[in-house]
Amino acid sequence: MRSRAHFKAHPLHPALIPFPFAFLTGALLFDTIGLIRESRALWTTGAHLTIAGIAAGVLAAIPGIIDYLYTVPPGSSGKKRATRHGALNIIALALFGGAWALRGPDWSPSLASTALELVGASTLAYAGWLGGTLITRNLISVDHRYARAGKWKEEWFAGKAGEPLVVAHTDDLAADQMKLLHVNGHRIVLARKADHFIAFDDSCTHRGGSLAGGVMIDGTVQCLWHGSQFDGSTGGVRCGPARQPIGAYEVRQAQNGDVLLVSPPG
Ligand code: FES
Repeated sequence: MRSRAHFKAHPLHPALIPFPFAFLTGALLFDTIGLIRESRALWTTGAHLTIAGIAAGVLAAIPGIIDYLYTVPPGSSGKKRATRHGALNIIALALFGGAWALRGPDWSPSLASTALELVGASTLAYAGWLGGTLITRNLISVDHRYARAGKWKEEWFAGKAGEPLVVAHTDDLAADQMKLLHVNGHRIVLARKADHFIAFDDSCTHRGGSLAGGVMIDGTVQCLWHGSQFDGSTGGVRCGPARQPIGAYEVRQAQNGDVLLVSPPG
């Protein structure tokens, strides 16, 4: 068994995003005006902003990749959106890199390089809109709290399929709090009702939202992406738009307070 603490999302990601956006759109602005007014001072500023923007974009990509791999739920609509967001950001940086290569020896822009920057800035704007949707609709980077101000918990386990596995201690969770377990590669949510524990699949059957990132009230879990509700004990749908049930798992509490997943998937 291995276990480690984990952020629900990397806090640096949204904090770094404004820098490449500001620098690269600034480069487009300075180059355009510099081209029109034939001002070396302006296009030199545009050249410096391009370098700063590409460097800031590469830096912002690091926490972005961490979020993509560890925070955005696999197989979800959010993952597809995040893939498009990342790919478009790479394309935008490449377009600004191409525009840089087309500059003259004195860093002067040309019509072609400025046109490339314009396409790059438009691509960056659309990628930014997708990123905003990932935060506001898919709640990536939102660090909400469970009942009684419970914080996000996530742990990794490896065990034999079908053999009881200790996944928590009774004190780990208060009533209506949840914890995301990675058991042999499967994402399972452990939740506490008033006097016992329940476990169910993390993936909402509507569009793959993480139920561990949802809300639990007395055994009913609500997905925050579009509001579907499931009975955490049976996996049955209580409220759509989801139509298919989620998988539910048997949980047992030992005398010493250990909480066991009775038959973990392999
Ligand atoms: S993904 Fe739509 S309700 Fe869960």
